[in-house]
Parts: sequence; C-alpha cells; structure tokens
Amino acid sequence: MGFPTIRPRRLRATPELRALVRETNLSPGDFVYPMFFNAALDAPRPIGSMPGIDQQPVSAARELAKAIKARGVGSVILFGLPKTKDDRGSTGLDPDGPVPRAIAEMKSAVPELVVMADVCVDEYTDHGHCGILRQRPGSKKENDWEVDNDATVEVLAKMGVLFAKAGADVVAPSDMMDGRVAAMRAALDAEGFQNTSLLSYAVKYASAFYGPFREAADCAPKFGDRAGYQMDPANGREALREAALDEAEGADMLMVKPALSYLDVIKDVRAHSNLPLGAYNVSGEYSMLHAAADRGMIDRDRAMMEVLTSIRRAGADFILTYHALAAAELLGA
Ligand code: PBG
Repeated sequence: MGFPTIRPRRLRATPELRALVRETNLSPGDFVYPMFFNAALDAPRPIGSMPGIDQQPVSAARELAKAIKARGVGSVILFGLPKTKDDRGSTGLDPDGPVPRAIAEMKSAVPELVVMADVCVDEYTDHGHCGILRQRPGSKKENDWEVDNDATVEVLAKMGVLFAKAGADVVAPSDMMDGRVAAMRAALDAEGFQNTSLLSYAVKYASAFYGPFREAADCAPKFGDRAGYQMDPANGREALREAALDEAEGADMLMVKPALSYLDVIKDVRAHSNLPLGAYNVSGEYSMLHAAADRGMIDRDRAMMEVLTSIRRAGADFILTYHALAAAELLGA
C-alpha cells in the first residue's frame, strides 16, 4: 500500500451529500418565461415547431399571469404579433398593440410579476428584418437594401417608452443596432421612466437555433439574413466588446443568446462584467430537446434540468427559457 487513493466519489454517495456539495442550484426565480401575444386570436394557437408553447390572445393575459406566478416563476418576456405589418414596423408603436395591452393586463392582475418586453421591429415589419431598410447609399442596383442603423434606433427608443408607459418593468432590445442602449436610456429618462430597467441582448449571434421562433413570432426575414447585424458565431472576443459597450451605454443587465453553443461566451462575459447576466435558451434549443425526447432518444426532464443547470454553471444569473413552467414544476415550486 502506497498513498491512500484520493476518492472524490466519497462525496457522491447519497443524495444528501450530493446536495451538500452542489455548486449550482436552480430555482424557478431564475427563469424568465417567453410569451407570444397575437392580436388576431381569440383562443390559444399551438406553435407547431414548439411543443407545449402557444401564441396567446391578449384576453388570456390575466389568467396566464396568475398561473405563472402560482408556479413560482417571477418573470416573463413578451413578444407581439400585430394584425398588420408595414415596411417601417409602424404597428410596433401602436399603444393598442398586443404587447402594450398584454403588459397592462398582466401587471394589473399580478403587480409583482416582473414583466419584460422585447423591443425589436422584426415582429412588426413586413420584410421581417430587425431594422428599417434603406437603399444602400451610392448603389445603382435596384432594391439594394441595407438596415438603416440610426433610423431604427429612433424607432426602438419610442418603442421602449411605449412599453414602459404600458407598465413594463424591463425593456429588452434584441435588434443588435449600434447605440440603441444609450438612445433608449435617454428616451426613457426624458419621459420620466428612470426606474424602468434595460436588459440588453448585448451578445446576440446570427444563429440557426432561432428557427422555431420565426414561426412563433411570424418574423422570418423575407429576403437575406441577419448576419449584417447579429454576431458571427465564430467570434468570442467581440462578445466582450459588445458587452462593454452596452454596459457603458447604461444597460442594467446583459444577455448572451443563444445559450448552449455559447457557454464559453457566457463564462467570459461573466468574468468581465459585474452586471447581472442572463442567457436565452432559445427556441431551437427547446425544440431539439423535445424532438429527441419524443423519439425516445433522451429523457426529457433530465435533459431539461441538465441544460438549465449548465447555463447557470457557465455564469448566467437568469435564464430566458420555454422550459420555465415545466422546470418550475419539477423543482417542486
Ligand atoms: C428578434 C428576436 C429573435 C429571438 C428573440 N428576439 C429572433 C431573431 O433574431 O431572429 C429568438 C428567440 C428564440 O429563438 O427563442 N426580435
């Protein structure tokens, strides 16, 4: 006999020991539940590519708010499907649009629920891009479009104020235009909304994993892609530049999106910023897990908890996830 064997397995012997030495814990309070409000609906409409997730009518907002709170989930983020769309996303600025109405309903039903609103024009533009388009300056080609950053930022600032007026606690720009955090903060402050928080989708990649969302929010771009404004999945250092810019511009919280292919990025941003950090466990990540579980390839509940735990372990304080209600139930809330 030489040295005694070092035995990490000693601490894995019982559930109680494992609980004692567990480094990462999940709680329903860590989750933000994404929801889709469709102005044209009277009843929920299932989203084919996202099992268990529906587009909702605004009339359901009150009861949904109560049900979500009852599960122990304290936060939601709202997306809107308007009745009509145009090239400038005008219905995104309609005070009677689905998001302002749903915010007001949810806040009046459950005042303590943290209601976040996604701020982006893609849900409201007929072309589906996250910005106002203009003819590329100097181009002689017909229909040679580019996203007009600064014109888009003006609309985003108005949209943020609109959602704040409706009662949103947090406005969350997801467009990836430059300078929008500063512009939105200034607009909110000028209108008296100093206490409305700004969660920036600071680090958002041009990802294939948004596929099901584009059905959910009916916002697939009609031409081209989003690579001119969302980040290249190959870039890690650029994430730190984006995060630092949004922090300097006044963001209260940062987000990395998607989560699973970007756990390294979550860890890096966590190490470089002391702001609260969220991660978006996006639609494709959700649907992939369900598709595999439906075919009996993986255990749905175990895979779900493993995914959520890994996102927290990487350094996210909170997780935007379609699993929120199911995971909260498993956690026994
Ligand atoms: C844009 C937006 C998108 C998502 C959230 N906000 C889609 C996109 O950028 O194409 C994706 C969320 C998901 O996939 O779950 N407003």
